[in-house]
Amino acid sequence: MRRPQRETLPDVPAGVTIYEVGPRDGLQNEKSVVPVEVKAEFVRRLVAAGLDTVETTSFVSPQWVPQLADSAELLGLLGDVGRGRNRPVLVPNERGLDLALAQGVQAIAIFGSATETFARKNLNRSVEESIAMFAPVVQRARSEGLWVRGYVSMCFGDPWEGDVPIEQVAEVTSRIMDLGCDQVSLGDTIGTGTTGHVHRLLDALDARGIGVDRLAVHFHDTYGQALANTLAALAHGVTVVDASTGGLGGCPYAKSATGNLATEDLVWALDGLGIETGVDLDALVETSVWMAGHLGRPSSSNVVRALAGSAGVGGQ
Ligand code: HMG
Ligand code: MG
Repeated sequence: MRRPQRETLPDVPAGVTIYEVGPRDGLQNEKSVVPVEVKAEFVRRLVAAGLDTVETTSFVSPQWVPQLADSAELLGLLGDVGRGRNRPVLVPNERGLDLALAQGVQAIAIFGSATETFARKNLNRSVEESIAMFAPVVQRARSEGLWVRGYVSMCFGDPWEGDVPIEQVAEVTSRIMDLGCDQVSLGDTIGTGTTGHVHRLLDALDARGIGVDRLAVHFHDTYGQALANTLAALAHGVTVVDASTGGLGGCPYAKSATGNLATEDLVWALDGLGIETGVDLDALVETSVWMAGHLGRPSSSNVVRALAGSAGVGGQ
């Protein structure tokens, strides 16, 4: 398959870790529940394509996210492929942690919000109450030796509250980090962020002593800004980037959230810059086409559409 011509830039990192969220962020937002065997095969294919870190599922309330109610069954099917410090699962509370630990999970992600409205809609709690809910989760997870990520949603805009002050985001991020997270991922849940905004937020976090080495970025592509924003973050020194194969994703509790940055588009851009990812783009495109066949609609990745032509749906 075609590849981009390699032309490097001085200010970009030599290596980038792609944190794949397709099985979790992607499949939590599907109207119909994807069969658990298909989910397991999706994860296996992503790992086989060279994606180092894959967020597999969520241990959240099945009433809230029925799409991922099969998380224990999924991990059962995955066996060793679903375990390890690079196979995180979302966990909001101690109940979720208990269920995840029972499955031998070794990495979790808690998920907070920079805004009050989304905290209530997504977690049924205020920002303060949700941080109080996470505190014992992180404490216990760390004492069990787990790797812990924290998400902060609505970092670049909120569908109900509009603009979100950078200092407000920085404050919540530092509270989440201080719980004891190894890494915090900055979520542009509804995709409204732009490149200057990315730099200003990273500056504000740096001023609070939160360096890029402990941060990841998580851009949804609702306004077509996800790749530009990611490149801005890389220029700022961030080296962990969230992406979702086929651009699947969204949050059922965030009005107007659409898919994440497509992993294939990210790999293409990084490949062109000579940045090492370890991902086999051919295998990833094949996986995207295979998944699109199961979902009954074409992959929304531009790279998949270009490389796989009109085989976006149905190609097994
Ligand atoms: P609640 O209703 O306040 O919970 O929801 P509760 O503690 O009162 O419990 C209610 C019932 O749920 C109880 O069952 C609990 O046992 C059960 P009952 O006694 O009535 O039979 N329950 C659970 N069951 C299984 N696993 C659990 C669990 N917890 C309670 N972990 C809660 C509070 C946090 C549970 C709920 O709001 C919830 O699950 N929210 C999750 C929403 C979600 O997953 N959203 C999508 C992920 S976030 C996202 O996509 C953004 C991100 O991508 C970044 C970005 O883009 O910005 C990460
Ligand atoms: Mg998301």
